[in-house]
Amino acid sequence: MRALVLCGGAGTRLRPITHTSAKQLVPVANKPVLFYGLEAIAQAGITDVGIIVSGIDTEIEQSVGDGSKFGIEATYIIQEVPLGIAHAVLVARDFLGSEDFVLYLGDNFIVGGITGLVDKFRTERPDAQILLTRVPDPTAFGVAELDGKGRLTSLVEKPKEPKSDLALVGVYFFTVAIHEAVRSIDVSWRGELEITHAIQWLVEQRKDVRSTTITGYWKDTGNVIDMLEVNRSVLEEIEPRIQGDVDEVSEIIGRVEIAEGARVRRSRVVGPAIIGTDTVVVDSYIGPYTSISEGCRIEDSEIEFSIVLRDASIKEVRRVHASLIGRSVEVSQAPPVPHAHRLVLGDHSKVEISS
Ligand code: DAU
Repeated sequence: MRALVLCGGAGTRLRPITHTSAKQLVPVANKPVLFYGLEAIAQAGITDVGIIVSGIDTEIEQSVGDGSKFGIEATYIIQEVPLGIAHAVLVARDFLGSEDFVLYLGDNFIVGGITGLVDKFRTERPDAQILLTRVPDPTAFGVAELDGKGRLTSLVEKPKEPKSDLALVGVYFFTVAIHEAVRSIDVSWRGELEITHAIQWLVEQRKDVRSTTITGYWKDTGNVIDMLEVNRSVLEEIEPRIQGDVDEVSEIIGRVEIAEGARVRRSRVVGPAIIGTDTVVVDSYIGPYTSISEGCRIEDSEIEFSIVLRDASIKEVRRVHASLIGRSVEVSQAPPVPHAHRLVLGDHSKVEISS
């Protein structure tokens, strides 16, 4: 069995945190979301992994490399124009050959991995196996309709009026039957070859398409609270590990990971929390459910339930809560007078000020 992981696409720089990097590299507990997918694939015993990339920049190739750090062998497949997920399957035809495969969208996150699902697929071998999950706003997803017996009757891509709250998760299992389907469908209203249509085609051909409903699913929809929540749930599972340098007067409580090269001085860190490589924390409080990436500086500040991306600095600010702070951002205290807010904000920034 092989895996095809999709990291191409054009709309990769849309969200507040993905203006400057690919959405597959959005960090959850200081690790890119894509890495959880690759680890899950390796854990399920799949080592031949094709990675679809746009060929425009090499950010994905640079961070994944040859795949050996995940225990996989990565083959990069260039999809020059992002003509849809089913189009990516067409482009990967030679790599996939006639093997069964899991199609994994690189910006999707499934809590608990996919080993059980892969085993089930290997045993039962339906033509296709899809995953569904209940979401509050299905309009941003493919949406499934099931009959009274739980059998899949239809799939619609991003419907304005969804017939159910069952969203299609971006992890699919296929046999060779999908190749005829992706060749048979037409381009959709949004100009893409939709995998949803290919699966619907299989249903119409009376192929065996099964669905399983899962919980513990997340993708970056640009919703900050969802992102903080997924970060929280991953932090709850981390193993406490102090590799950085913590001075004697600092206090570390609960599940806390402090990476190599990080320094903590006269501070209190209450887990679950993670502090990245070469980050410096001085005279500060880091509260539960906080991820601070590498190369940051937190000085004389308090922060909790937040994500801070690499090379950011926070100085003399208390208290930062439920926040998402981008790369190389600087947050500091305004001078006491005059009583006014002085803001230098990038395009599409969102700022909440209580005054
Ligand atoms: O995430 C789940 C949803 O993914 C499903 O519910 C939808 O049915 C499915 O169509 C897809 O919808 P999105 O519109 O969210 O897909 P997006 O364009 O964000 O692409 C998903 C991933 O696939 C992303 O990592 C980029 C990559 N991609 C996308 C396209 C269109 C490619 O590699 N090539 C492509 O041509």
